[in-house]
Amino acid sequence: MTLEAVKNILDSFKDPFLNLTANEMHLEQKIVIEKRAMTINLIAGFPIELLEINYKPALLNELQTHFAKYQITVAISQFIRAHKTQMAGKGLRGVKNTIAVASGKGGVGKSTVTVNLASALARLGCRVGILDADIYGPSIPLMLGQTDPVQISGDHYLPVLAHGLQAMSIGYLTQTDQALIWRGPMLAKSLIQMLDITLWDELDYLFIDLPPGTGDIQLTLVQKIPLTAAIVVTTPQNVATLDAQKAIKMFATTGIDVLGIIENMSTHVCSQCGHEEAIFGSGGALELCATHHTTLLGELPLDGRIREQCDNGTPTATQQPDELTDVFFKVAMRSVIELAGKPINYADKFPRIVVE
Ligand SMILES: Nc1ncnc2c1ncn2[C@@H]1O[C@H](COP(=O)(O)OP(=O)(O)O)[C@@H](O)[C@H]1O
Ligand SMILES: [Mg+2]
Repeated sequence: MTLEAVKNILDSFKDPFLNLTANEMHLEQKIVIEKRAMTINLIAGFPIELLEINYKPALLNELQTHFAKYQITVAISQFIRAHKTQMAGKGLRGVKNTIAVASGKGGVGKSTVTVNLASALARLGCRVGILDADIYGPSIPLMLGQTDPVQISGDHYLPVLAHGLQAMSIGYLTQTDQALIWRGPMLAKSLIQMLDITLWDELDYLFIDLPPGTGDIQLTLVQKIPLTAAIVVTTPQNVATLDAQKAIKMFATTGIDVLGIIENMSTHVCSQCGHEEAIFGSGGALELCATHHTTLLGELPLDGRIREQCDNGTPTATQQPDELTDVFFKVAMRSVIELAGKPINYADKFPRIVVE
């Protein structure tokens, strides 16, 4: 009886910050009730720092009001696993999960979203990397700010370190003002080569900032790199969501799970009067999610601070916590929670392969 009641509470009680239930967060639950003692062990497949701060005390409080006579303990542990990719066998060497960030169009804020998701997760205590695969316009070096140069170890590159994360970009390897005039196939090849010789240090998540669009290069990359999942970034207007559909279809045809869609520049809040306006229209991404049965991972505001902080090499998610950093923490958490619900890659117990 009591066990059922506890399960019911776990089924309906929502994390106050993320607004998700234990099931929606894919938490593994172990409930032990002995006499007047109740122990609830929860295992999360994603970083738990925010759950420790928000969910745990709130859940404990909820349980205590229902079961006043019990001595209640809630423990949450973190176990980030390697999930299946579109390829049989193991994932990328040194990486549990690779997440491609794509958009149908350039300029929708794909790189901005990538650095902010990655820095939010690094800040929450997991091991995160960024691979800048946007060879036409590598912007990750600018957005991560000044770093030490890439180190070479034997036949390998060691990624640079910035804001607690590991990063690699062609921008770190070539002079930034040197125009890249390589053609398509060579471009894809050089990128895969770069990925091949980069030694990632035991990452939970590697974000890959793909070049905008859905052409041959993108297709080659998503076919050759073992990807656990993809995130599609769009702005709300029709031209952008139409292109985002193409990206969703590209992942569907290559057998890659789309975790969801992030709508960027959803609303603009006037810094003078606080008036909120949907400059690029509204509801575009939500409609896209309904059509393609995928999740709206979040809506990000159009805010001058986001641009400025990225331009200065100190992305918003690395700033003092406030309502704007919270937006990125929420989207980052939604993304990895969604990932935690995907099938596990059991082949990953063995040494990982290298991309050829
Ligand atoms: N939510 C936002 N609010 C304000 N400026 C943004 C936002 N998202 C992106 N930007 C700015 O828009 C420009 C394009 O973003 P970027 O991330 O480089 O796009 P993409 O990688 O898709 O080409 C950059 O100057 C960036 O700072
Ligand atoms: Mg970009």
